[in-house]
Amino acid sequence: MTPAIRTALCLLFVSALIGFSSLVRGESVSGDVMRGWRVFHDKQCVDCHAVWDQGGRFGPDLGRTRLGQRSDGQLAGVMWNHIPKMLGWMEQTGHPPATVTADEMADLFVLMSFVRQLDEVGDPRRGEEILRNKGCAACHATNAEGDGVGPDLAKWGQYANPVIWAQLMWEHAPVMEEAMERSGMSWPKLEGADLVHLVAYVRSIAVTGEKTYLRPGSVERGQLLFLEKKCDACHPGEGPDLADANLPTSIGALASRMWNHSPEMARAMRERDVERQPVGPQELADILVYVLALGRADRDGDATHGRQVFTDKGCAQCHERDDPEIVPSLGDLGHDATPVSMAAAMWNHGRSMLERMTEAGISWPVFNDREMVDLLAFLTTVDGETTPP
Ligand code: HEC
Ligand code: HEC
Ligand code: HEC
Ligand code: HEC
Repeated sequence: MTPAIRTALCLLFVSALIGFSSLVRGESVSGDVMRGWRVFHDKQCVDCHAVWDQGGRFGPDLGRTRLGQRSDGQLAGVMWNHIPKMLGWMEQTGHPPATVTADEMADLFVLMSFVRQLDEVGDPRRGEEILRNKGCAACHATNAEGDGVGPDLAKWGQYANPVIWAQLMWEHAPVMEEAMERSGMSWPKLEGADLVHLVAYVRSIAVTGEKTYLRPGSVERGQLLFLEKKCDACHPGEGPDLADANLPTSIGALASRMWNHSPEMARAMRERDVERQPVGPQELADILVYVLALGRADRDGDATHGRQVFTDKGCAQCHERDDPEIVPSLGDLGHDATPVSMAAAMWNHGRSMLERMTEAGISWPVFNDREMVDLLAFLTTVDGETTPP
């Protein structure tokens, strides 16, 4: 087992005890990573999809694709797109697709959220370079080599989780900033996986003690802490709207982003008389997971454009005809239209829809960019009773 998988499985196991959730259309979807993992196996997703190299090769490895950049609605869109390919393969190999309930699909969405926010495995050699190149080594010794202004970092080698490091760095940022100003240094910025490499380096040289793991963050707790720690005094407001900020999609990279902005945030806090609140490691984990979920939630779906999508993709040809016996009406589709319900419906009705489309000479519609998000926005404006615009 590679370290990545071991870490992942360990996290998965821990999270099974805690639960983990995702935001879908601004509301939390309660699901469970471990259950999602089981559904992923039971429904044969794993026959075609690997997660970090473990599993089938027919579809993309969900631990490695750019899933992270997509919102939940977009995820429902890409799942819709792959139905014909998937059904074709299943036919060839004699696997009938299993039905997936909406709850199971919610667990799968939570699993996919979880997978996308894990960091890649750190590389100690790159970590050492970063420590030197970013100037950390000018103040911090590691394993008592060199004597610095700042504390020796080796003792933190017991912490594998970049969030614990981010928390320590965040906590000490004001004093570090002063020390840097005194020595004429500019604030070192960390990018992408820098923090993860840095942790890997310190762990590689440290006298290892107990390995401490943090439990995965919770969106609900993070949401409360975001208010409690007064992050909302500036976000949105003087600081960027974090839901629109195009933030990185992994925890470590997001923590680095906070570090990068620390001096600016500290200045804004002084100016606005917002007291800098202490944030504990578990609290930071929760806040980071909440901020990541904000980035994935669908907002600003364009219902008017969604109407257009419904017509252009041919949905209207079947779902607005008067044979509700055979085809669900538009009002039925509108009832409870969420990314999760859409993905589950797709999964379960894909085969009969594909057959009818083939009969009717309609090719399987493909959703690009935000088309599914807009379609969902449109569907939520229709309910079972009203006639659509
Ligand atoms: C029979 C094989 C097969 C099965 C079973 C299968 N998939 Fe897929 N999946 C694919 C293929 C192939 C693609 C790539 C589609 C394409 O390129 O059009 C894909 C794409 C995806 C994508 C988009 C990935 C990306 O980065 O674009 C997601 C998400 C996904 N599948 C989720 C699932 C889930 C969840 C399940 C189980 C409920 C599942 N798939 C079952 C074959 C499969
Ligand atoms: C100009 C000197 C300076 C630089 C450069 C610097 N630090 Fe620090 N660092 C300090 C000082 C001083 C403290 C102690 C702050 C305090 O007591 O609040 C500290 C504290 C820390 C701590 C908490 C350690 C503990 O034992 O409590 C961590 C972790 C840390 N720094 C990491 C880094 C990393 C990573 C970098 C590079 C990106 C860096 N530092 C760059 C001076 C520096
Ligand atoms: C007093 C105002 C203020 C408070 C309080 C505040 N921030 Fe910020 N934050 C800012 C400003 C201003 C920026 C942009 C800084 C810059 O441009 O360098 C920022 C940037 C960020 C970024 C990076 C955004 C990006 O686009 O890269 C993150 C993430 C962030 N803040 C999270 C938080 C969290 C979490 C809290 C609560 C613990 C918090 N902030 C509290 C003002 C604040
Ligand atoms: C050729 C006809 C046809 C077209 C075109 C079509 N559908 Fe369907 N759709 C059906 C049929 C038939 C069912 C019911 C399948 C079943 O009962 O298994 C269905 C079921 C569904 C369901 C599940 C409804 C439920 O109550 O569970 C959803 C959601 C859906 N379609 C959405 C769409 C969308 C979105 C489009 C356009 C991108 C579309 N359909 C295009 C025929 C079609």
